[in-house]
Order: sequence, then C-alpha cells, then structure tokens
Amino acid sequence: MFQSLSRLSEDAILGVMAKFRADPSPLKVDLGVGVYRDAAGNTPVLDCVRRAERDVLAAQTTKSYVAPAGRAEFNEAVIELVLGAGHPAVADRRVVALQAPGGCGALRVGAELVRTAAASATVHVSDPTWANHVPLIGGSGLRLARYPYYDAVARRLTFDAMLERLECAPEGDVVLIHACCHNPTGADLEPPQWKALTELLLRRRLIPYLDLAYQGFGEDEVTDAAGVRLVAQSVPECLIATSFSKNLGLYRERVGALLVVGESESRAAAIRSHVLQIARSIYSMPPDHGAAIAARIFCDQELRRAWIGELAAMRGRINAMRTLLADTLRGLRGDRTFDFLERQRGMFSLLGASAEAVGRLQAEHHVYMTGDGRMNLAGVMPGNVEYLAGAICRVMS
Ligand code: LMR
Repeated sequence: MFQSLSRLSEDAILGVMAKFRADPSPLKVDLGVGVYRDAAGNTPVLDCVRRAERDVLAAQTTKSYVAPAGRAEFNEAVIELVLGAGHPAVADRRVVALQAPGGCGALRVGAELVRTAAASATVHVSDPTWANHVPLIGGSGLRLARYPYYDAVARRLTFDAMLERLECAPEGDVVLIHACCHNPTGADLEPPQWKALTELLLRRRLIPYLDLAYQGFGEDEVTDAAGVRLVAQSVPECLIATSFSKNLGLYRERVGALLVVGESESRAAAIRSHVLQIARSIYSMPPDHGAAIAARIFCDQELRRAWIGELAAMRGRINAMRTLLADTLRGLRGDRTFDFLERQRGMFSLLGASAEAVGRLQAEHHVYMTGDGRMNLAGVMPGNVEYLAGAICRVMS
C-alpha cells in the first residue's frame, strides 16, 4: 500500500529548525521557527507558568478525562481575554468556546466546521500568509484563494488591492485575517483599515476567520485584540482561533482555543454541538496540562499581573532588537532600507531578499530563516547583531 507514497519535501518552517539544530557552527544565528528567545538565546519557561504549574500539580487529584470542550474556566477566561468583558456577543450568549490542541488544532476544527456548514465556501488567505495555514485549512477539503496583502519589494501593505479582491469574493466565503503581528510580514492593519475591512465583510456577507496567535506581542494584549473585537461586534457570525504557545510560552503543551460567534443563541447551541463532534472525531479531547496552567494564570489576579509584565518584557525585547538591527544596518549601509523593521510588529518581518540571497545567508554565513526571507526578530541579540547585519549586507546589495 505505502509504495504509492513518495517522500515529501521538508516543512517550510520545521525543516529550517532541524537544519539549524544540526549546524555545529558557533556562529550560527536562528531567525527561523517562531519561538521567543531571551538575550542569551534561550526560550525560557515564564515565571508565572512555573508558579501556576506548581499550583496545578499540587491541586490535581485525578487524570480522568475532562471533556471534548476542555476546561470550562479556561474557555470562559479566553472569551474575556479575546473579546473583553461585556462584549455584546457574550452578553447575547452567542459565543461558543472550545479549548483546542494549540492554535493549529483550533484552526483545523474551525475549518472542519466551515466545511460541515458550507463545503463549497472558499477560504481567502493573505498573500503571503503563515505557511501552515495552507495545509491546516486546505486539509479539511476547503478551497483556498489568496488576496493581496503585502508588497515585499516596497515593504508595505497593499490594502487597496486587498479590499478590491475581497469585494469580488462570493457571499458566504470565508476571509482568514491575522488579528495582529502578521506572520510572516509583521505589517498590521491600522484602526481605520480595520473599520473599512469590517464594513466590507458585513456588506458583502463574508465570514471572518481571525487568527490571533500573538496577542500581546504587538502593542499590548488589549490593543492587539481591538480588530477582533470590532469585527465580532459588527458581523453576525465569525470564527476566532487563538493560541497560547507564544504569549504564555506554552509551545509544547499545545494550548489554544476556537471561538465561534453565532447569529443567535440557538444558532450558537447548534454550532457548539458540531464543534464538539468534530473535536471528538479528530482527537476526542484536548490535552489538559497547559490549559490548566493558563486558566490558573488568567483567573488569579496576582499571576495574571505577573504574566502581563512578562509578556511586556518579551515584547519590549523584540522591539528593542528591531531597532538595534535597523540601526546597525543603517550604520553599515548608510541608507534607510531597513527602517521598516522598526515600524513592524511581532516576531516576524520579511527581509525582502531573493531566495538565492536567503540560501547564501544559510550556506555561507550560518544565518537561518525560512526560504521566503522571514526573520524571527527574537533571534537577534546584542551579541550577534553585528555579525548578522554584516552577513545581510554581504548577500544584499
Ligand atoms: C512559526 O510560524 O514559526 C510558528 O508558528 C511555529 C510553527 O508551527 O510554524
């Protein structure tokens, strides 16, 4: 049977992670996979996570099943974190929440829900988008299309072209939108652009599917959710996938959630029955440990305060590295080509280099990024910035 399977090429992101790990060079620089790194290059366990984990373990009396929807207190806390207290859709009991195995699990369950409801719907994704959006959503059988989002040469959003394309999308299609810290470009919509997009989605009866994987890495955890909140209170139906891999550093624990806003309370009840069945048919129940930690942090005032502080520190370091790299490149090149690094937000920006230059960075300078030139700015450190900037200058004229 398996003779029919030929070997696939490596994953666009995880393949770079494996290559970096295998490189013995002391010079190597990791700008690949999207994990936070501190100034020493480590991806630490947050202090609030350590404390919450101790509490969780001390209070745990069983390893018996929780439920296909996961922990109720986690789901409640996520609704509040994403939509804010007193959001009209919450007051109207139109929000369904499902704890999921990471943002990926949430995205896939949401895609399966769309396919169950409207198998002929197309999902429009930004060009470019996170490499894994394509298999995660396309794997459900839904058709994908791309809308223009970012011009990598001019290094700016192509917002008018985005609206123009979505204006032509058939009613009932789904539009996947990065809620903040766009992956891979770091270029986000401004508030007036969110407003214009929301008006279009409403008028053209398109279904927004918001991916909120970096809440707190842009401005702060409230501002970063503003676009999601606006959309969710303006349209009758939407989906939101959220992840706590990055903002709680719970990567390997797989903690995320899917929120679905329905048109009415009874519609939400029907949606809920379907997402539970989809979860049951794929993985039955989500892993509990990370969600128990997250819930403890969200529900305990002291731990939550500590988390917000640690999140601000991670964000601050990435932004400082954006400035440091842009400064160093300005100094070496004597031009402002890379000023955009300072304007963009979140872990990623596109270098704007050719595939050949990205290949040379890896082969000749041990600098690792994905093939499209996506850099994880958390991999920049005061100790490697001169070397990195020098390598970039050597491969880019
Ligand atoms: C990334 O974009 O690098 C991360 O979200 C990790 C992943 O799973 O791709």
